[in-house]
Amino acid sequence: MADSKASLSIDGNVVADLPILKGSAGNDVIDIRTLGGAGYFTYDPGFLATASCESEITFIDGDKGVLQHRGYPIDSLAKQADYLEVCYILLNGSAPTKAQYDEFTKIITNHTMVHEKLVHFFHGFLPDAHPMAMLCGVVGALSSFYHSDLDINEPDQRMRSAHRLIAKMPTIAAMAYKYSIGQPFVYPRNDLSYAENFLHMLFSVPAEEYVVSPTVARAMDRIFTLHADHEQNASTSTVRLAGSSGANPYACIAAGVASLWGPAHGGANEACLTMLEEIGSLDRVDEFVAKAKDKSDPFRLMGFGHRVYKNFDPRATVMRETCHEVLSELGIKDPLLDVAMALEKVALEDPYFIEKKLYPNVDFYSGIILKAIGIPTNMFTVIFAMSRTVGWIAHWDEMLGQPGQKIGRPRQKYTGEIDREFVPLSDR
Ligand code: CMC
Repeated sequence: MADSKASLSIDGNVVADLPILKGSAGNDVIDIRTLGGAGYFTYDPGFLATASCESEITFIDGDKGVLQHRGYPIDSLAKQADYLEVCYILLNGSAPTKAQYDEFTKIITNHTMVHEKLVHFFHGFLPDAHPMAMLCGVVGALSSFYHSDLDINEPDQRMRSAHRLIAKMPTIAAMAYKYSIGQPFVYPRNDLSYAENFLHMLFSVPAEEYVVSPTVARAMDRIFTLHADHEQNASTSTVRLAGSSGANPYACIAAGVASLWGPAHGGANEACLTMLEEIGSLDRVDEFVAKAKDKSDPFRLMGFGHRVYKNFDPRATVMRETCHEVLSELGIKDPLLDVAMALEKVALEDPYFIEKKLYPNVDFYSGIILKAIGIPTNMFTVIFAMSRTVGWIAHWDEMLGQPGQKIGRPRQKYTGEIDREFVPLSDR
């Protein structure tokens, strides 16, 4: 509903009256849908000030460091709920009753296995393939297993796809890892929690029993929770755009995985560890901080800064606590972790980072935790993708359930040649 209007005048002439729409929180939005008719497009590469959709799922106030899923603050969810409860909330809109939670957990647990034919897809990859490459391919391939359940206009079928994806992502992620290190695939165990089962599939071998550490399982569950959704980020927007054409959910999630892979997004946790390895020792921290501040050097401190959070990242606050808890409970000594802690201290006190509001982000701390619990670096982004699957699918489902949903089709400011005479190849 329009609450007020903005008038767009060009050279003193009003060319459009644009309704201003209010959400339940956050900035009002100017509805520019009729502007094309007046002969103008808006120009906003990088979507710095563009609301691409209407959503009830996640609210962020970057200046105040607020992140809420369905109205519940992220620190309450991280400390008082487990990941599957957060998945339920994201998908269904409100916290479940105990019976609803038990039923949801049972459904997810009962979908953890993958079709045995899917296993063969892995054997087509070279052993040194990046696990994200395998994840992209195999998740997309899931669409070929559920032909009869891909009607995107059927809410029940959409929800079944959501359940399958949440359940099977850890199985596929662990298979990608096992394949890359030449160990046999480990089948899921339905007597374990979501986080425990993932650790089991990742670390157990047929030759001996693997006992899951409760500290590690708790940290892993928290990493899943803190990455579960984050409003209209690059990968979620990718999933929405792919889904807007009516593409099936597995193909859309594969597109989300691809977008997340980049180092400016989900690839930052892996890039952060690679950077810590490059720094290598405490005496080189200052040198790398200077590089990050040098305008002529493209180097950035990976794991620092965020497009939306300009004071602090509320996920990073919880993740930082978990990080210190894990390091002290597991009594881990690793020179790289000392480098990370020194970098955190320098950057938090350095005027360049303070002025530009560059704080350690969630991926700085999650990278350190994952390293501390023995997860290989190339699996970091895979774990982010697993955790974010629920957010992607919740947004996809919300979009398809909205009346008047349209294919996403941005316009452009064209800067190329125009009306050129084409000369046939034989005359050039
Ligand atoms: N190290 C050094 N300088 C930086 C950094 C950094 N990590 N990030 C931004 N800056 C500087 C940048 O050079 C620019 O300086 P100036 O105004 O003098 O030109 C200023 O800060 C603003 O940077 P920007 O690129 O315009 O900011 P953005 O909002 O477009 O980018 C970002 C946000 C996250 C892509 C960026 O901060 C970055 O590349 N960080 C490192 C990668 C990273 O950790 N990404 C994970 C984000 S959290 C996980 C997720 O949600 O996906």
